[in-house]
Amino acid sequence: MTTLRDAAADAGVHVGAAVDADSLRTDTDYRETLAREFDAVVAENAMKWGRLATGEGGYDFADADDIVEFAERHDMYVRGHTLVWHRMYPEWLRPWSRSEAEARRLLRTHVQTVAGRYRGRVDAWDVVNEAVADDGGLRETQWLEALGPDYVAEAFEWADAVSDADLFYNDYGADGRSEKADEVYELVSDFVARGVPIDGVGLQLHVFDEQVPPADVAANVDRLTDLGLKVHVTELDVGIGAAVDDRAEQADYYRDVVSAAVDAGADTVVTWGVDDGQSWLPVASGGGENPLLFDEQFRPKPARDAVVDALSR
Ligand code: G3I
Repeated sequence: MTTLRDAAADAGVHVGAAVDADSLRTDTDYRETLAREFDAVVAENAMKWGRLATGEGGYDFADADDIVEFAERHDMYVRGHTLVWHRMYPEWLRPWSRSEAEARRLLRTHVQTVAGRYRGRVDAWDVVNEAVADDGGLRETQWLEALGPDYVAEAFEWADAVSDADLFYNDYGADGRSEKADEVYELVSDFVARGVPIDGVGLQLHVFDEQVPPADVAANVDRLTDLGLKVHVTELDVGIGAAVDDRAEQADYYRDVVSAAVDAGADTVVTWGVDDGQSWLPVASGGGENPLLFDEQFRPKPARDAVVDALSR
């Protein structure tokens, strides 16, 4: 049977999954499915600041290291997620009463500690995640408030100084044609024009309330690659519920959207989890369910075969 991994290798792309360190250590089926079917990983949570932090300035890299070591043992591409985000940060950072200089020092130190530690081992970093607001402009976050709008570009400079990975801006709701997709395009176009060291854009592609037309994804990938940027589909999942009715329609959508993205030049496609049993989506959306390529017993679903088809050319 052709695995996802085989099909991706033939297509010259990576196919990956978001990984949980506990499942990796404790669940044989999880480990075997991941190693057999995927050639790329990203830590679902283990590389976020709030998970790495042990106290002010302290770090525990055990979970993140386990994921990177697993990837190395199985010859997998590693996406790092994420250095700068407004969520999952350590409690000790509160309250936000620090001076601008102190806030900048803390964030720069964090970016460089983590990106520097994994130099040569993480292939691509989501340097900044979800900095664009849903209704336009930059999202009002603690970082925008403390550092001003240039913090996004600064983060890329800091990462570039210590890392040889490809540096990505990653967001949701910017996958196809939308005002937010245009905002992200403007942000990264400006970076390219100004020589900010950005290498790529991550389109998350969480699909649970409505389908994003695959042709729109292709058009967006096209214009981003025209800027000279790489594009990764970083968090793909397709919940059964409002967006698709059943497994067959889910498979068709996966086939169409992966084909569209890869044909337009996306060179990595990552699903946000391995199996339906451990997806974030049912809890978060209250709607879309069973969004991944393997069911909770790790049996391949029609969607998995559809992605193999999409990559077989
Ligand atoms: O592990 C603890 C557990 O010990 C505790 O009992 C439980 C109680 O709430 O929480 C568990 O941690 C949760 C963790 O997921 C693991 O399940 C956190 O509360 C919860 O906040 C965390 O949610 C993650 C979320 O990002 C926030 O960091 C999701 O797993 C993860 O899938 C989600 O991923 C994000 C991407 O990073 C960015 N794009 C959107 C995507 C989906 O929201």
